[in-house]
Amino acid sequence: MPGDKSIAHRVALLSILTGEPVVAINYPDNLDCRVSLEAVRKFGVGVEQNGNTVTFTPPSQIDLPAETIIDCGNSATTARLLAGLVAGSELSVILSGDESLSGRPMKRIIDPLREMGAELFDRDGHLPLKIQGKKLLPFEYRLPVASAQVKSSLMLAAMASKCSLTLREDTITRNHTEIMLSQIGEGLSVREIKPVMTPDPHDPRKKRTSMPEDFKKEIKLASHSSVKGGTVDIPGDISTAAFFMAAAAVSGGTLTINNLGLNPTRTTFIEHLKNIGCRVEISDKTALSGETRGTVTVTGGPLKARKISGKTTAGLIDEIPIVAVMAAFAEGTTIIRDAAESKVKECDRLAATAANLRKMGVKCGLLEDGLAIEGGGERNGADFECFGDHRIAMAFSVAALFLDGPSTIDDDSVVAVSCPEFYNLLESIIQ
Ligand code: S3P
Repeated sequence: MPGDKSIAHRVALLSILTGEPVVAINYPDNLDCRVSLEAVRKFGVGVEQNGNTVTFTPPSQIDLPAETIIDCGNSATTARLLAGLVAGSELSVILSGDESLSGRPMKRIIDPLREMGAELFDRDGHLPLKIQGKKLLPFEYRLPVASAQVKSSLMLAAMASKCSLTLREDTITRNHTEIMLSQIGEGLSVREIKPVMTPDPHDPRKKRTSMPEDFKKEIKLASHSSVKGGTVDIPGDISTAAFFMAAAAVSGGTLTINNLGLNPTRTTFIEHLKNIGCRVEISDKTALSGETRGTVTVTGGPLKARKISGKTTAGLIDEIPIVAVMAAFAEGTTIIRDAAESKVKECDRLAATAANLRKMGVKCGLLEDGLAIEGGGERNGADFECFGDHRIAMAFSVAALFLDGPSTIDDDSVVAVSCPEFYNLLESIIQ
């Protein structure tokens, strides 16, 4: 698998703040990650590519003309993380994006960055966004939305401005920024809140568990926190692998993927595969650059429906379309709830997924925050629409392999956002 997109963005963007060179091994070549390379070049970072190894050499001083325009293309991770970094850097930048990115919510970073003291000028909560960075104030914040991008944006703001930050998460999100700072930075401390056993007030012989705090995780950055040079070895992208694992799941075949990222904040899809009837074996598990990885073998089987909600849905945030496709091939009705965040991704993924499933002849209910998918019925080839979204294109290209009759997808080029080699890889696993 190509390297993990989330980790790649973070190495690239953090290189603006490092004093010494950073080497990224297995940096993926896709449109989103190229956007981050182009962005850091504008800040004066030297970017030297040798195959998939990228060396980032930070400038001795950032010399960026006021109101430099940075085009973030389709990449919300670039836009939101860079917004934080600029907000704390006393620089002035205009962030823009393509049509899809310009429709995505930015208020979730604008509001807390303003509270920290930065000046931001937005278009009704959307890009283009003009940021006038400032010396920011120490800040304490409980994240109102489960978002690793918001969390990381504020962390980059605090690091750039050398101000202290305390963040609290009610739902634990991917922790690649924390891991990278623990590896090539300093000044970070993380506390995960675990349930404690207390005597039951009604019956002292019994114990019950309760949470000592009403949040799940606390992240603190000290005002002296910094990021240094070093090497970051990027494991394979589990969110891209999900499409190929799903093909194995539906076909009943066996697929092995090496060097796959297995960070526990990203492996809910593997748990889901097991829950719906697949066999998953993991071997050669190791950690490199703080990120767990291993060899994963998935064997499909008769699939069964599951109800997905709460933190399970949050852990599947990028996998909802392919989870829904698998549901069409499972026995029973799959219910996905608490997935409203899927509506503000590269497209409204709930509406897009429902529309394409219905084209296949699958009965699908579009809920306020999810989907209800009746599996095991009719499944015909169809002319799918990807709504400009790479993950919708990949999900329904996988579906097409198992439908009665041919299918088309309206734009195969969108897969290049995260995996330009998608169709070659897919062909290579079809017998
Ligand atoms: C990402 C976080 C998630 C995810 C996105 C990548 C990241 O977005 O959907 O593909 O790299 O931090 P949110 O922070 O909006 O949940």
